[in-house]
Amino acid sequence: MILRLSTFLLCLFVATSQLLADEPAVVTSPNGKISVAVTTDDGRLYYEVAHVGKPVLAPSRLGFRLSEMDGFDDGLSISAAAVASHDDTWALPWGEREAVRNHYNELTVTVAEHEGLKRHLNVVFRVFDDGIGFRYDVPADGGFGEIGITDEITEFAFAEEARVWWIPARWWNRYEYVYNETQLHQVPMAHTPITMRRDDGLHISVHEAALTNYSGMSLEKSHGTTFKANLSPGPDGVKVRLNGAFVTPWRTIQIAEEATGLLNSNLILNLNEPNKLGDVSWVQPGKYVGIWWGMHLGVESWGSGPIHGATTENTKRYIDFAAKYGFDGVLVEGWNEGWDGDWFHNGDVFNFTKPYPDYNLEELGKYARDRGVRIIGHHETSGSVTNYENQMADSFALLAKNGVAQVKTGYVAHAGDIKRLDENGNAIYEWHDGQFMSQHHERVLIEAAKHKISINAHEPIKDTGLRRTYPNWLAREGARGQEYNAWGSPGNPPSHTAVLPYTRMLSGPMDFTPGIFDLLFEEAQPNDRVRTTLAKQLSLYVVIYSPIQMAADLPENYEARLDAFQFIRDVPTDWSESIALNGEIGDYVTFARKARGSEEWFLGSLTNEDARTLSVSLDFLSPRQNYRAEIYRDGADADWDTNPYAMVIESKTVTAADTLALPLAPGGGMAVRFVPVN
Ligand code: NOJ
Ligand code: CA
Repeated sequence: MILRLSTFLLCLFVATSQLLADEPAVVTSPNGKISVAVTTDDGRLYYEVAHVGKPVLAPSRLGFRLSEMDGFDDGLSISAAAVASHDDTWALPWGEREAVRNHYNELTVTVAEHEGLKRHLNVVFRVFDDGIGFRYDVPADGGFGEIGITDEITEFAFAEEARVWWIPARWWNRYEYVYNETQLHQVPMAHTPITMRRDDGLHISVHEAALTNYSGMSLEKSHGTTFKANLSPGPDGVKVRLNGAFVTPWRTIQIAEEATGLLNSNLILNLNEPNKLGDVSWVQPGKYVGIWWGMHLGVESWGSGPIHGATTENTKRYIDFAAKYGFDGVLVEGWNEGWDGDWFHNGDVFNFTKPYPDYNLEELGKYARDRGVRIIGHHETSGSVTNYENQMADSFALLAKNGVAQVKTGYVAHAGDIKRLDENGNAIYEWHDGQFMSQHHERVLIEAAKHKISINAHEPIKDTGLRRTYPNWLAREGARGQEYNAWGSPGNPPSHTAVLPYTRMLSGPMDFTPGIFDLLFEEAQPNDRVRTTLAKQLSLYVVIYSPIQMAADLPENYEARLDAFQFIRDVPTDWSESIALNGEIGDYVTFARKARGSEEWFLGSLTNEDARTLSVSLDFLSPRQNYRAEIYRDGADADWDTNPYAMVIESKTVTAADTLALPLAPGGGMAVRFVPVN
């Protein structure tokens, strides 16, 4: 493969080049470190990946098996191969950074059957400095027509054992698991992103980009360290049904010499299509509070009755609080009828246009508007998707009329229990990450956009970077969030948020809902607690990226600690630059981010259950500028278990030439705001 690199480099000077049939087709990354070779052997199609000449993936098969038609997996040859280069920079309307460089070399391999149906398709590889993406591209004249994919036989034959962080796929709790840390050969079937570190220090994460009109891919072990794509099935077992020309989602392999390399990668976004919504100035990042944690603690209810949370009076209290402390939104769950039924098991109970009698939608819309705050709508579907699709347009219209610009959706249902009705009214059950749900989420985004509404989906399909194409997809859940600390006894371990950045967060923003200040809530839920220090709760606003961040605790708990609350008030949610400064998977991580439209920087650092003192250079700050560093750190004797509230808040003057020590307690964290001063 390496011998052929010189051939490849020559190819770069022409737009395309033809290769002789069955010669390996090769492409390398712009910096030359990552290479991909595509070959056929005995009529089977393979790709392999190397990093500085060392195998990452051994030859791994490509192809499809189909229902009612021969598979496209045998009798194949490479009939053409073309290389091209691309380098441009594009803008994110909101995000971790303003500008994203999209720099890759591309190899398009045309693969044809020489016998039988004589079909052909393209496999397109894009090789970046931070990894590769590839997808199947079936042209209209490829000879496929109407197909049912029963198996995508894409393999990932990892060349070496590795330490791997993963969650199980196709289990009942969707993506909401504590991450396992095992050897690679011990993984049976995992969701993506799945992230690993080899003994030689190479970091690899497999995921997918631009999942539309297709089923989500999990990795299933076939033998040793060889895995294959396992697509989420439709109700009849067929994985994907398509007709005519199509492209699959990109299969992505991020490759980095250090763990932070994964965190600083833009590969997933680069492989998505540009914004399809046009002017999206109405999509607004921001911070919110809400009628939410009280339900999870059991002191308020979604349904009607004496502790109903979504009352006009209680919502006004939250609006007043939001206005007083500078929050943009107030999430109100339990505003609409349905919660009194067996909502957990039957989403058909929900009416999305009928508020409870003690919730005055119009009055609250006006009350919020007068105070510069917006109500955030909520659509819990409990997975009854037809019931929701029948009502969503009317509900978006009703909410938009009352000033709502953001809706949190929810799909509480066991994996595989998404209910839809077919043309005859029969109930059909789907997976959260199947083809039907990938289409559903797109339908919701497009309908919501007509009403200038943005979406935050819980129990979602996994993120594959579609926020680039639909910038109104602000955030989603898709992992164990803060809510598990309220009732998931024993909740999230201290290492959880030290694993998330390297796994779930590689896919995109998460509505984790940080900022719990009453960490023990001994009266409400004596068997549960939050297993972090207070300072670590603040660090999450910088570490766990989302353009919308909740201050999730009850207002009274913030008013009891206004000094710590100041950081939540100050921290923005939209950034012009983000840099992962240090980190190791599951152990610790530190991010620095610069606020959009401002010269302020913020830093967040957190650790697992181990105390550690990190040290970071402040060379990301502007040179020759003094900054007041407002530091929120664990106290000397802080410990998530025994002394979680011990926190020091201090200020000092720093410059880009300084080094800052980050003393982190067990289960601790640190948050810093850097304000330019004269
Ligand atoms: C699960 C969501 O993750 C949570 O935030 C919400 O409160 C409940 N569903 C009810 O919709
Ligand atoms: Ca959830």
